[in-house]
Amino acid sequence: MPQEVRGVIAKAKGEPVTVETIVIPDPGPGEAVVKIQACGVCHTDLHYREGGINDEFPFLLGHEAAGIVEAVGDGVTEVAPGDYVILNWRAVCGQCRSCQKGKPQYCFATHNATQKMTLTDGTELSPALGIGAFCEKTLVAAGQCTKVDPAAKPEVAGLLGCGVMAGLGAAMNTGEVGRGDTVAVFGCGGVGNAALEGARLAGAKTIIAVDIDDQKLEWAKDFGATHTVNSANEDPVEKIRELTDGNGVDVAIEAIGLPQTYEQAFYARDLAGTVVLVGVPNPEMKIELPYIELFGRGGALKSSWYGDCLPSRDFPMLIDLYLQGRLNLDGFVTETIDLDAVEEAFHKMEGGGVLRSVVVIDD
Ligand code: APR
Ligand code: ZN
Ligand code: ZN
Repeated sequence: MPQEVRGVIAKAKGEPVTVETIVIPDPGPGEAVVKIQACGVCHTDLHYREGGINDEFPFLLGHEAAGIVEAVGDGVTEVAPGDYVILNWRAVCGQCRSCQKGKPQYCFATHNATQKMTLTDGTELSPALGIGAFCEKTLVAAGQCTKVDPAAKPEVAGLLGCGVMAGLGAAMNTGEVGRGDTVAVFGCGGVGNAALEGARLAGAKTIIAVDIDDQKLEWAKDFGATHTVNSANEDPVEKIRELTDGNGVDVAIEAIGLPQTYEQAFYARDLAGTVVLVGVPNPEMKIELPYIELFGRGGALKSSWYGDCLPSRDFPMLIDLYLQGRLNLDGFVTETIDLDAVEEAFHKMEGGGVLRSVVVIDD
């Protein structure tokens, strides 16, 4: 029997979101219905609402979530009702050219549910990133559910589903930060702070946080920054060289998505170092660099999609590290809110005063 639940909908470009009744079909083959316990408010949800991703309104927003599997469809073996899971948007296919090459973290044909969730009048919904978790229940592909230790609170666990994983993975997976490395992170929002955490976990000895907001730099210290630079007041490239014996960092991570901060990251890196871009540029942006510098500085310029994570490998491991007290995830949760407060959370996000507002749905 299809079920009716409450969910947060973006009906039209730029319009405030509303809480509506959503119809969730029973899970079909390869699908699962998940009872959502918590879901973080991410910039991508706002981008959907602003029409910045595509025009397939109405959207069912929310995608950084944890919850309990309620029911599974035919052929589902990886999860069962009662499992505590983090939802991901990288349910790998196992068959595309990247999966075949043994690189499922770049899978080009990831799975989502085949059936549609709808409004009560039958209007089909587009779930954000194929998830749609500002909702009491949601329908996903079973591969989008990654089982983790239920000892981790849902408001914290859910964060690994998107932004925090992107930052951790930018340092640990894409940047391959190693023991004793020097690292700089440009931008100390949720993504940048997670990159700082990733660098700390990987054993970096010097971790430099760069931002234009002193409050953000203060918070960055709780996520592993050993030094902070306010780039509104001083030249970050010079300062980073000064902090690294005149050399620059082994790994420079851009977590904003601006040409000028990418350029700073490019020049703040040591010879043969790595630049990682995890901030998302907009389509109009361009970047110009002296061609000879691309050759002369050597090393690698990499982009990090979703932290190049493999959910089945990374989520349970990171939750274990969190439970052992080695990964600060609690610090990302600025406030917990209920479903009706998502619009307000968008405004707070634009104001810059929060790392994450997290929707918590009680039984
Ligand atoms: N120089 C330095 N820091 C800057 C600059 C700048 N020119 N402009 C903005 N910042 C800082 C802000 O002060 C803020 O602390 O960058 C940080 C950005 O943080 P958030 O807006 O919270 O963004 P976040 O959620 O961390 O995402 C960052 O990663 O995944 C992408 O789409 C996401 O592009 C976005 C980026
Ligand atoms: Zn694949
Ligand atoms: Zn997100």
